[in-house]
Formats: sequence, C-alpha cells, structure tokens
Amino acid sequence: MTDSGKVILSGMRPTGRLHLGHLEGALKNYLRFQDGGARCFFMVADWHALTSEYANPRDIRANTRELLLDWLAVGIDPDRATVFVQSDVPEHAELFVVLSMLTPLPWAERCPTYKEQQQELQDKDLATYGFLGYPILQAADILLYRASHVPIGADQLPHLEMTREIARRFNYFYAPGSPVLPEPESVLTEAPRVPGLDGRKMSKSYSNAVFLSDPAPDIERKLSRMMTDPRRVRRTDPGEPGDCPAFNLHQVYCTPDEIEYVMNGCRTAGIGCLDCKRVMIKHVLADLGPIRERRAELENHPEQVTRALERGNEHARAVAATTMHEARGAMGLDED
Ligand code: TRP
Ligand code: SF4
Repeated sequence: MTDSGKVILSGMRPTGRLHLGHLEGALKNYLRFQDGGARCFFMVADWHALTSEYANPRDIRANTRELLLDWLAVGIDPDRATVFVQSDVPEHAELFVVLSMLTPLPWAERCPTYKEQQQELQDKDLATYGFLGYPILQAADILLYRASHVPIGADQLPHLEMTREIARRFNYFYAPGSPVLPEPESVLTEAPRVPGLDGRKMSKSYSNAVFLSDPAPDIERKLSRMMTDPRRVRRTDPGEPGDCPAFNLHQVYCTPDEIEYVMNGCRTAGIGCLDCKRVMIKHVLADLGPIRERRAELENHPEQVTRALERGNEHARAVAATTMHEARGAMGLDED
C-alpha cells in the first residue's frame, strides 16, 4: 500500500455529467490513491457551484446525483473512500467564516482565477462577495480533513498555494510550534491532456465532449468525426500525428505497437483517418463499456447511491467536527 498514511481530499463542482477529460485527468488519480490505500475524501462541491449558479440553482441537486453516479460507476468505492456533499457538512461553512477573518483581502483579489473567470463567464455577474471567497472556501474544504495531498488540475494551483498560505497564517496566529492545520501538497495528472472533438479543451460548454454515460453508438459517431490533422484533406495526403487532436487519444489508449502502426500509416498516407481512429475507438469503447453498465445498474438502484452518500456524509462530519473542535480550541473560542 504505497499511499497509506496519505490523506487525500479533492472535489468537483456538480455542473453536469463527466466526460473523458475528467476520467483521464482527475478520476484516474482519485482511483490511484484509493487503490494505493490512502485515506480518501471525495467531495461534491455544491456550494462552489453556487458561487456562479446562484441566480439559477435549480440544477445543482440533480447534477450532484449525476456526479455521484459517475464517481461510483468509474470505481470509486464507498467502502474505501469517503464520498460526501459539501453542504451536508456545515463545518465547511464554519471554517470558511473563520478563515475569511484572517485572509488578507489582496490575497483573494490577486488570485488569477478570480479575474479570469469573470472575463470568461461574461454572461454571469461574478462581482460577488461569495465568488471572491471561492478559494477561501476551497481552503476550508482541504484543511478540514487535514489533507496531505490534493489531486487537482493545473488551473487550480493558485488555490492550493492560497490554501497553504492560509494554513500558515492560521498556525502562526493560534498554534505556533504545533500546527493544527497542516499545509497540503498538490498532485497534478501525468496523463496527456485529452482534447475535445474539435481540438479545443474538452468541455461541456464547447459541446465537444465524449461523456462517460454516452451510449456506445454515440461514442463511435463522435470519435469518428473528431478533428484530425488538417493536412489530410484527401486520403492520399500524408499527415503528422503530432498535429492531430485525435492522436492524443491514441496516445492515451493504444498499445505501443498500435501507435507505431498508426504513426507510420499517417505519415505515409498508408491508412485513412477513419481506419486510424478505429484502432483507438475500440479501446475507448472497451474502457467505457463497464463504466456505462455499472452506471445503468446504479440508476436502477438509487438507494445504493443514497446509502453510500449517507455513510460518507456521516464520516466526513465526524472528521470535520474533530478538526473544528481543535481549531476553536487553538483560538481559545471554546469554553474550557
Ligand atoms: N475548485 C475545484 C474545481 O473547480 C473544485 C473544488 C472545490 C476542490 N473544493 C475543492 C478541488 C477542494 C480540490 C480540493 O475543480
Ligand atoms: Fe490523425 Fe490518424 Fe488521421 Fe493521422 S491518420 S491525421 S493520426 S486520425
């Protein structure tokens, strides 16, 4: 058990069904830690979803359910990992309040994701107090479980850095010498980036995603039409796999022999793009088939999902309550 002794916390906002990008990015890391024997906490960040969806929060609940289904379907095992929902553990709000008091405003204002997201999501008014506090809430998520490692995407690195600074400041004020909130380390994915069908980043909002729950014929159709090296206009035009978005998926899914064959065939125009993609599509279908089946099974047994969540919530609450007790104690806020 290579990861025993590690405490993992990670979370996702419930924004819809998960796709291949999530699987190869975050989820494979989740599973690696779970299988390595780490203590894992996987959280549905519904309050974080609210920071941008506050005007229309109606979908958050249903999306939470979808996210839990996807997680359990890919193999997150509630007997080994704690799966829970942020808003079911009120201590997240409590620690968020405490940390808000000690976090200097410029730290939040300078966080690069703050301005970037406001730019990117122009249709939403994100000039809110809650949105500014997004990374502070995330720090509370992580520190409540005293996580040693946090699997995240590279876009989340500034939030991890802020979490470390906030932990340091808390310990400096209230627990010098014997830190109450340990500083976590980030863990980035090693897998190559999975591009979407159009070559841009895979994302639901670009309509270029292959979802884990897509039926097999949809996956086949989507990937058959995926963007390739534009140089291969005709079947006889040679191409360069390095300039082909579809080839990124070959690199994730195919055997070394297959990759060799495909690279050769592409550069010599020995094979057509569709033949080339079929080599990869076969693997994607084989990978997603069991996930889709498990998901369908769980959809037919919603009580299993509910049970898993109740157990996870209960355990998360117990751990969070212990940390809060110590945090309040260190601050001298509790009666003695
Ligand atoms: N902000 C993260 C994201 O959008 C989601 C998240 C919330 C998270 N709380 C977390 C990730 C704690 C890691 C740890 O991806
Ligand atoms: Fe991409 Fe394969 Fe077509 Fe080459 S042959 S451009 S690698 S799909």
